[in-house]
Amino acid sequence: MITLQGLLQDRVAVITGAGRGIGRACALLFVRAGARVVINDIDAEPAAEAARACEAEQPGSAAVSVGSVTDPRYTDELMRTAVERFGKLDILVNNAGVTRDRMCHLLSDEDWHLVLDVNLTGTFHCIRSAAPYLREPAKRELEQFGKVAYNRKIINFFSTAAIRGNPGQINYVAAKMGNVGITRVVAQEWARFGINVNAVAPGFTNTRLTAPKGPGDTLGVPEEQRQAVLQRIPMGRFAEPEDIAGAVLFFASPLSDYITGQTINVSGGLQIP
Ligand SMILES: NC(=O)c1ccc[n+]([C@@H]2O[C@H](COP(=O)([O-])OP(=O)(O)OC[C@H]3O[C@@H](n4cnc5c(N)ncnc54)[C@H](O)[C@@H]3O)[C@@H](O)[C@H]2O)c1
Repeated sequence: MITLQGLLQDRVAVITGAGRGIGRACALLFVRAGARVVINDIDAEPAAEAARACEAEQPGSAAVSVGSVTDPRYTDELMRTAVERFGKLDILVNNAGVTRDRMCHLLSDEDWHLVLDVNLTGTFHCIRSAAPYLREPAKRELEQFGKVAYNRKIINFFSTAAIRGNPGQINYVAAKMGNVGITRVVAQEWARFGINVNAVAPGFTNTRLTAPKGPGDTLGVPEEQRQAVLQRIPMGRFAEPEDIAGAVLFFASPLSDYITGQTINVSGGLQIP
């Protein structure tokens, strides 16, 4: 196993939607790299399970906060949890996401708003709620010492399907490309505070969002479509959550201190027109 110890030593991260899939893999990798993590999810049991997995790696490394990133009062509480449990907040990973796929002419207002609320507005809420803990300490350090003690980090999520434009995902594509815009704006607004803001676009990754979709399933992708995507991936396999977590760790670590406002595709070589 690659040794990561020290890469995120003494750092504290909030990871949204970390009960399952990519967020859970990020939490575990961050803990292996020395961080303490607040695991957010809207679902209590997966969040508790992810925290147990982190604690098994490193006792005292994980706290759980259950709630929805769509609720701005809750996201304030979520960021406070990091400070109350671990004394500070250094890294925010805006991973929570959901799909409600339908062709454009059949999509309900409800499913449009749900997907925009979670994937896009949730990112905004979390960044605004994190400002007192990311931006303010950096500002004080600048005033006192002329430089920040270390760079703080935000990692947002978009999607290779969104870059390409995916039939049946007008709501998801709009939300995810909105996150690219958020990334570019906040990167410029907060660069002088030593806060790096970057975004990761997973390719097709093995999680419940991409599991084979049966009749009546809300989430998932029809098997025929899964196979069509697989044909286009030069590496010949779908990503695993850990593949994506590696790129997120890079953006969370000091290795990326001079990179901000950027996007990266983690897609096994999938070419996006
Ligand atoms: N799986 C893929 O192929 C793929 C591709 C591109 C982008 N992504 C993005 O990666 C991120 C992680 O997705 P995943 O594939 O691990 O999915 P997942 O469903 O396995 O995990 C997402 C988690 O987010 C949580 N969540 C949903 N709504 C929430 C809310 N309102 N508040 C807090 N938590 C909430 C869910 O309960 C779930 O545990 C998402 O932003 C997704 O859009 C995934």
